[in-house]
Amino acid sequence: MPSGLPRGARFHEEIAAGWTAGYARGAFARRLELIRVILTRHVRPGDSWVDLGCGSGVLCRELLALGASVVAVDGSPRMLSQAQERMGSEYAGRVSWIQSDVQSIDAVKNGAFDGVLCSSVIEYLDRPDALLKEVARILRPGGVLVISLPPTLSVVRALQKGIRAFMSMFGNAKFAYLSVSRLEISPRAIDRLLQEAGFLVIRSTKYDPVLPRALLRLVRPALLVVEARKLNRL
Ligand SMILES: C[S@@+](CC[C@H](N)C(=O)[O-])C[C@H]1O[C@@H](n2cnc3c(N)ncnc32)[C@H](O)[C@@H]1O
Repeated sequence: MPSGLPRGARFHEEIAAGWTAGYARGAFARRLELIRVILTRHVRPGDSWVDLGCGSGVLCRELLALGASVVAVDGSPRMLSQAQERMGSEYAGRVSWIQSDVQSIDAVKNGAFDGVLCSSVIEYLDRPDALLKEVARILRPGGVLVISLPPTLSVVRALQKGIRAFMSMFGNAKFAYLSVSRLEISPRAIDRLLQEAGFLVIRSTKYDPVLPRALLRLVRPALLVVEARKLNRL
């Protein structure tokens, strides 16, 4: 496996082959449904979108189905080949693929895009501010960012961390993603980071794979999906 890859991309090389299958049911299928509803609010036919950290391309398909053209970026060569293989010639001419670190995407043009989707990627990065700076650079003024991330104090993540620590005493590595998915940001801090990067937060939606929706009024979810708009001043 190439050692020069970003940390988060290197981890996903190992699980690329099974990534799409994970969306068939359960928590991933419900997360996909939520993101589909959110994208429907923002994507218009003929739009140009970037899917940052596109993985095996499941969410690229959603953007394409809504009529956008898509530049799909990921740091994992295996994820990108999975995505390309599965897409085949469907949507040919409307999707292009770039292997790059999302913290520095020189190949993507300034101010050229109507929207950026970045689903479950920022938590794998050492420089989240660099990612947001890149997003602000490539979006047109008024363009939309849809980004998901784990907030601090998530009950489910705390439980997973506990199980991981306990099982590690028996040499069993549970929830391996937690070794690389390290960044957790409080809802207030993500709003601040987005404001500093030149965005106005439109909406933040809570998602949890386990806890019922009613409980999410009292406790933090595993995931926040934030919709934000790039301000005109940049
Ligand atoms: C949890 S997966 C999410 C994939 C996809 N967005 C989805 O929701 O199905 C995270 C993805 O981010 C990519 N990734 C992580 N760190 C990266 C980095 N620094 N640069 C580019 N891609 C990165 C991984 O290779 C992986 O495909």
